[in-house]
Amino acid sequence: MPYTAHSSRYQQMEYRRCGNSGLKLPAISLGLWHNFGDVDVLENSRAILRLAFDSGITHFDLANNYGPPPGSAEENFGRILKEDFSSYRDELIISSKAGYLMWPGPYGEWGSRKYLVSSLDQSLKRMKLDYVDIFYSHRPDPDTPLEETMGALDHIVRQGKALYVGISNYKTEEATKALEILRSLGTPCIIHQPKYSMFERWVEDSLLDLLNKEGIGCIPFSPLAQGLLTDKYLKGIPSDSRAAKPHGFLQQSQITEGTLDQIRKLNEIAIRRGQKLAHLALAWLLKDVRVTSVLVGASKPEQLADSLKCLENTAFSAEELTEIENILKAGSS
Ligand SMILES: NC(=O)c1ccc[n+]([C@@H]2O[C@H](COP(=O)([O-])OP(=O)(O)OC[C@H]3O[C@@H](n4cnc5c(N)ncnc54)[C@H](OP(=O)(O)O)[C@@H]3O)[C@@H](O)[C@H]2O)c1
Repeated sequence: MPYTAHSSRYQQMEYRRCGNSGLKLPAISLGLWHNFGDVDVLENSRAILRLAFDSGITHFDLANNYGPPPGSAEENFGRILKEDFSSYRDELIISSKAGYLMWPGPYGEWGSRKYLVSSLDQSLKRMKLDYVDIFYSHRPDPDTPLEETMGALDHIVRQGKALYVGISNYKTEEATKALEILRSLGTPCIIHQPKYSMFERWVEDSLLDLLNKEGIGCIPFSPLAQGLLTDKYLKGIPSDSRAAKPHGFLQQSQITEGTLDQIRKLNEIAIRRGQKLAHLALAWLLKDVRVTSVLVGASKPEQLADSLKCLENTAFSAEELTEIENILKAGSS
């Protein structure tokens, strides 16, 4: 069936400015790390993407290595993009990244100019695109001068192969230097993509303040801690869950009794608020104005539809926040 996007899609979503840039992102963005590879069912991936766009999600996040096998998420996305979304290209923000292992030899990972430039060329071919909207350095490289990695991002923008650039997994000190170099080159970084959820809060120490001060957007990845921050693991490990899949990155060893105890307590707060735990976890991130968008994953369309309901209530009382804080602190001590 040919696809026509829902006419009221932009009324259903909140859009937030990405730092001080001109770009607005949807409060919920969709990541294609899992569920879009060759091991997955293409028609399911297509249904997730259609539902996302119909719901006002304009931002799709990829990386060279997403699959498995690496590269297959970009290829499958490229195919669906051509078949369903080609007339909507100017309504989409598509990102990709390079940093992790992609091909053998000394030029297939990390942060050299050689790797970043050739990796983006490969990504564009796989997605059948002329340019991406955002290109990221996926992780800092301890052995390549930061000037070279940031210089490659600047070069890529000047080539017209990316409109904006971002950094991911950079700690505060590394991010401070990267932002300064990019600014001096005239290609400002507009976004940082860190791991951030109720269960992973390192960004609160100083990164969020830095991004706020510098006018850089923040798009937390794995906001549901890969599914842990939902009610799905409360009664065991479902056979179709990420923790049960051989290629899933969520390890069963992460589902400890202590974590389950926290999940149970957070779930009770969610129920009291008339929400599900997934909604609570996403709303808890979105309550912070320094967070531009939360980057969720979904293994089925219904799951994404469910996560979108978090937007119905992102306000928290002081008592709720204290109660949540106590549960999270008890778990980290
Ligand atoms: N920059 C980086 O280094 C980096 C690293 C990791 C991820 N990312 C980006 O962040 C994106 C999101 O990461 P993530 O997939 O780990 O995010 P996540 O939102 O924390 O986890 C998504 C998973 O949680 C489960 N889920 C989602 N919504 C649910 C709901 N409403 N109810 C119950 N279960 C639900 C599904 O797993 P099941 O399979 O169990 O159904 C889904 O695949 C990635 O796709 C990628 O774009 C970036």
